[in-house]
Order: sequence, then C-alpha cells, then structure tokens
Amino acid sequence: MNIILLGPPGAGKGTQAQKLQNDVGIIQLSTGDMLRAAVASGSDLGKKAKAVMERGELVSDELMVGLIKDRISQPDCAKGFILDGFPRTEAQAKALDKMLEEGSHQLDDVIEMEVDEKALTERVVGRFTCAKCGTGYHEKFKPTKVSGVCDVCGSTEFSRRKDDNAETMKTRMAAYRAQTEPLLPYYRARGVLKKVDGMAAMDEVYRQIRAVLAGT
Ligand code: AP5
Ligand code: MG
Repeated sequence: MNIILLGPPGAGKGTQAQKLQNDVGIIQLSTGDMLRAAVASGSDLGKKAKAVMERGELVSDELMVGLIKDRISQPDCAKGFILDGFPRTEAQAKALDKMLEEGSHQLDDVIEMEVDEKALTERVVGRFTCAKCGTGYHEKFKPTKVSGVCDVCGSTEFSRRKDDNAETMKTRMAAYRAQTEPLLPYYRARGVLKKVDGMAAMDEVYRQIRAVLAGT
C-alpha cells in the first residue's frame, strides 16, 4: 500500500505517519525529517537546504525528487510507504507518477488533512521532539506523561525546529497555498483524493485514516 498524506504545515502528517508505520508496518518517508538529518550531518544536501528551510521556503524540485527516488527504490519500501511532505509541487507530483510507473508501484490513496490556519500556528509553535528517539510532542495537545521526560526512551533532552515560529509559519503557509494546494485538484481528478478532518483529536484523525485505507 502506497499513500500520500497531504496537508499544510502542522496538519498532523508526521503524527499520523508515525502511528501508521508502527501499526501497519508501511514505511514513513518524511522529506522534512530527511532534510533535517542532512542538515545535522552537514552533508552537501544539508548545506544546500538549511537556509531555505529556515526561511520556510521550498527546497528545489531537483533535490527533492532525487532524494525520494533513491529512497523508494530501497528494499524496505517494497511493502509500501507513506509519503509525508512529498510531493509539494506539481513538478514533484509528475516526477512521482513517473517513479511509481517505472517501479510498477501504484498510488492507493492521497489523504488530505484539513486544518484551520489559526490552529496550525498553535500546533507548530507548541511542538517539541525528543532529541534522542525523535518522538513528537506538543505542549498542550500531547505533553509528556512526566514533565521533561520522554515517554518512549526516558531521555530528558528535547529539541525544537528553527522554522517552528509564527513568523516563518507565514512563509510556510504561503508556499503551501501557492505550490502544494494545487495538487488537490490534480489528485481529485484521478479519483484518489480522500479527505479527513484534521481538526479532530489525534485518535479520531487516525480512525478516519484507517477507515479510508480499509476502503470504508
Ligand atoms: P516538513 O518537515 O515536511 O514540515 P511541514 O510540511 O511544514 O509539516 P510539519 O512537519 O510542520 O507538520 P506535520 O503535518 O508533520 O504535523 P505534526 O504531525 O508534526 O518540511 C519542513 C521544510 O522542509 C519545508 O518547509 C521545506 O523547506 C522543506 N521540505 C520538506 N519537504 C519538501 C519537499 N517535498 N519539497 C520542497 N521542500 C521540502 O503535528 C504538529 C504538532 O501538532 C505536533 O506537536 C503534534 O503533536 C500536534 N498535533 C498533531 N495532530 C494533532 C491533532 N489532531 N490535534 C492537536 N494537535 C495535533
Ligand atoms: Mg512533519
């Protein structure tokens, strides 16, 4: 099963993709996480992407298509993958179509996660992540059970993304509206677009996604 989670910054793509990966065993492919790992490692890709990401703009199609092409050809993707943050432009969507065709993969569902703009800013500004195992949290919506301690690995170190502030959110939202939202009619026309209520609580969003995947 190959799916795309499509939605604005902070919509909950990563939260839901992580849960699906754990429960269903299909691989989460988060281009944002891959780029942040590249920035942290100081690789050429990371050097090219760092400033662009901090401004909240999109990294070039050429780099992103190369990154995903390499990744989906790896053996662990054979059972299926969840694209989280890709494609984000029409050129990326077209390149993905070509990759899937060449690899004889099909695209099962494109799941749109719809969330109000005000809620999105609250979500990204309150987000933090365990620096050791990467588990995602939110100050208000998903705090750690014990204050300052990761529920999963017990680490007491957390990190925040440089682009998670109200100012950069404006640029990220503008990029979404101009370059990514036009993909909704692109996939709707192909009959693969399904919508879930991203404003609902995390468990309810997950339930709706599972219902889409089950074809109900
Ligand atoms: P990326 O990392 O993909 O960021 P994004 O799309 O802006 O999305 P986020 O990761 O911010 O949000 P999310 O939808 O994953 O939400 P989450 O589940 O964490 O990309 C970063 C940058 O990399 C881009 O700006 C660009 O520069 C570059 N890039 C990446 N891919 C690219 C591409 N293909 N092309 C070009 N450039 C690319 O949830 C957010 C918070 O809300 C969390 O704290 C969570 O706990 C909470 N939350 C989640 N669900 C709910 C809920 N239902 N109710 C309440 N709180 C919730
Ligand atoms: Mg994410």
